[in-house]
This record gives sequence, structure tokens and C-alpha cells, in this order.
Amino acid sequence: MKRLMATSNLILGIESSCDDSAAAVVQGTSGAAEIRASIVLGQNALHASFGGVVPEIAARAHAERLDGCASAALAEAGVTLQDIDAIAVTAGPGLIGGVMSGVMLAKGLSAGTGKPLIGVNHLAGHALTPRLTHAVAYPYLMLLVSGGHCQFLLVRSAAEFSRLGGTIDDAPGEAFDKTARLLGLAQPGGPAVETEALTGDAKRFRLPRPLLDREGCDMSFSGLKTALLRARDHVIAEKGGITRQDRADLCASFQAAVSDVLAEKTRRALTVYLAENPPQPVMAIAGGVAANKAIRAALETVSAEAGVQSNAPPLALCTDNAAMIAYAGLELFEAGQRDDFSLSPRPRWPLDTNSPAMLGSGKKGAKA
Ligand code: KG4
Ligand code: ZN
Repeated sequence: MKRLMATSNLILGIESSCDDSAAAVVQGTSGAAEIRASIVLGQNALHASFGGVVPEIAARAHAERLDGCASAALAEAGVTLQDIDAIAVTAGPGLIGGVMSGVMLAKGLSAGTGKPLIGVNHLAGHALTPRLTHAVAYPYLMLLVSGGHCQFLLVRSAAEFSRLGGTIDDAPGEAFDKTARLLGLAQPGGPAVETEALTGDAKRFRLPRPLLDREGCDMSFSGLKTALLRARDHVIAEKGGITRQDRADLCASFQAAVSDVLAEKTRRALTVYLAENPPQPVMAIAGGVAANKAIRAALETVSAEAGVQSNAPPLALCTDNAAMIAYAGLELFEAGQRDDFSLSPRPRWPLDTNSPAMLGSGKKGAKA
């Protein structure tokens, strides 16, 4: 497709769909942009004693902090609202009170300045991050795997995605967090379980590999949590408690099960992707669970076997942030998207409207 020389745009991004209040300024063009500023205010301390994100507390915190976040991002970038070309905001999917806070702020800023408003799908923000960080060419395969998401996306453009499969219940990060809780480890559970697994025997407990017998790329992780609970209780019943080694072995066995499922489903997703003959095949991973070294290594091996290059954005851009929203907004702005004040916050918003709705919904709210 022939394109006119794109002019550089300066986009303010706002994100508040879960438990991070974030604002960022991104500048450039599609596939060639830089982050001028990115501010993320997490809310872990506010929710810690509840064992999960409390939507009302999250929404109130967003409402209190978001405008300060936006001012701080503009100041750090050394620009004013007048310099901005468009205001991009997460309009869903996510916890509705938080999404409303962001959309209301963005509408206010847009009304006050006359700058265009662009509603962005949070998942598109994650999915387009490899273009911000590594200028990855379309089409590429993306595995988004975190505490709130788990899906394979074939990314064709900023507005065209095919979901090849996803979890039908919990996201793997939730399973890591639950495993940590069951074994008395700290939250968030992923890093703690990974550390324990380093000294554990992954073969000691035979945990299930759910849905491997089913065709396609859908996954399930809730049964794995239950299996881990049973294995733990079995050890306790036998010995009256669990030793450090038992705990390490349980963690290693659990991590191996998650890794095996993700690796096999990635193999299948790669087959579907490669059937399209992408000129420069790339498989990208993002989300908090992508920080896990064992899982990352397993996925890199599967990609390499298929002759596909692996890509992983830096961790701070894999987890929730507003730079990804500003960048997705930039691509959509270039493509001509403009929203008006009828832009509605959406708790659910599938990226791929042709694939069946996902049933899963976990501690971090509704999924697409
Ligand atoms: O992307 P993220 O920060 O937030 C959302 O879920 O949206 O992901 C957080 C999740 C948590 O469930 C956390 O336990 C998991 O990612 N996680 C990990 C690791 N680091 C974070 N899971 C496995 N291994 C890790 N090293
Ligand atoms: Zn997210």
C-alpha cells in the first residue's frame, strides 16, 4: 500500500482499566515512535489486604490520581497540552469504574483543548507494543499472557486482529498467584513460584496438562490450581506438613505444566500463522508471565524450531502502562480514527469480533 510521508505526531495516552493509573507521551509515526514520558502509579498497596483488585477502590484511586499522572507525563516530556496532536485513552475492556475515570478525563481534556479523542482497546495496546519497541512488521503472532489475559493474537494491523485461541477460564498469572497463596509464598505469586522452582524437581508431581487433547489453541488453567491443591494436601496428609523441598518440587511441577501447555499451544498457533506466509515471521510475547525465564525459554525454543524470530518487549512495557495506549492511539490516529463524546467505556471489548466470546473472567476483571 502506498503511503504519503507521515508526519510525526505527539500523542497523550491514558490508561486506567485495572489497577495501574498511567499516562504517557509518545511521539513519531507508525512503526517509528519513541516514548517521551511514561508514568505508572500502581495500586498494589491499596488492594493487598483484599487478596485481589477491589473495583470500587481502584476506580476511586484512578479518579484521584489520573489527572496528576497526565500532568506529570506532559511535564516529563517537556510539552504542554497545546503541543499534543491527539488524546488516546483506554475505552475497555476492563473494570468499568476505572475505564470510566480515564474516558471522562480524556473527554474533558479533549473538550477543553479541541484536540481529537481516540478510544483504544487495552488489548490492542498490549498487542501493538512490539511495534513501539522493535518496529516489528505486520503480520506477527502475539501471545499475551498475564494475570488478566491469555490469548494468541494474529496481529495484521492496528485495527485487524484474529484471536487464534485463549484461556477458557483463568489466566496463567492468576494460577501462579493462587499457587503461591496455597504454598504460603508472597504475592504477586509468579516471581516467588519461579524462584522456588529453581531448586525443585519438576517431575515429582504429575500435574495435568489441560486441553492438550483438544484441537486448537484454547487453554485452561483453573484445573491445574485444583490439582496443585490436591497434591499439596496429599503431602500434608502423608507427612503432617510440607518441607521446603516439597514446596520447591510443587512449584517446579506447576511451572512445568504451565510451560508445557503454553509451548504446545504456541506450536499450534505458529502453524496457523505460518500458513499465511508472513514475509518476516515474528512471535512476540507480552504480559507479566512473560517475565518467567523457564516459560520464556520454552517459547523461544518452540519459535526457533519453527524458524520464527522471538520478540519480547522490556518488562515495564509488557505490563500495564499508558505508552502502549498512546502508541496504539498514534497508529489509529494515522489511520484516521477520531472519536466523539459518545465514546463509551466498555467492560468487554473483544479485539476479534469474529471469534467466539471468551468465557473467562478472573480477579482482574472481565476479559475480552
Ligand atoms: O501483566 P501484569 O503485570 O498484570 C496483569 O495481569 O494485567 O501481570 C501480572 C501477573 C501476576 O499474576 C504475576 O504473578 C505474574 O504476572 N508474573 C509472573 C512472573 N512475574 C509476574 N508469573 C510467572 N513468573 C514470573 N516471573
Ligand atoms: Zn493488561
